[in-house]
Amino acid sequence: MLFFLIGFMGSGKTLLGKEAAEKADIPFCDMDRLIEKSEKKSLPEIFAENGETYFRQLEFDFLRQIPINETVLIATGGGVPCHTNNMDYMNSIGKTIYINLTPEQLQVRLEATDIASRPLLKGKRQKELFDFITSKLAEREPFYKQADYIITGEDDELTEQIIQIIKASAI
Ligand code: S3P
Repeated sequence: MLFFLIGFMGSGKTLLGKEAAEKADIPFCDMDRLIEKSEKKSLPEIFAENGETYFRQLEFDFLRQIPINETVLIATGGGVPCHTNNMDYMNSIGKTIYINLTPEQLQVRLEATDIASRPLLKGKRQKELFDFITSKLAEREPFYKQADYIITGEDDELTEQIIQIIKASAI
């Protein structure tokens, strides 16, 4: 079974995903890191040199080359569910799990990370960052909310819920 972790930048898809996969004893992969590896460029370089449209095409292609009979937890990039028909596609080949955090929670987490590694957030801080999160999240939630599972809570609770979902549906 394929499991897709979806959610806004900073929601913890990579960090919590890694931990949950390890505890549930299934493989984990991070889409952004694999795209960077195959392009031999960082995300900021891909955005700057090739543009966002090109990056969205890479995400589209990546999803569609995943072997559907594998068992793996995949941390997707925050924009994946909201482009082309990726959300329908992920729902059709696996289980989607939305890490549903508030703009306030996302702001705290994002400010504690390396903003420069996320091209869409470049140069944004404090109120500008908060306003961006609020409006972008509102735009994306109709997609995120199509997930099979919507989870909320603190980190430990989120990890535990991901583990339970995997255990309940892994074959
Ligand atoms: C993006 C999220 C990023 C990365 C790219 C675009 C987005 O992934 O794919 O910078 O559109 O929300 P994370 O959600 O892992 O930060």
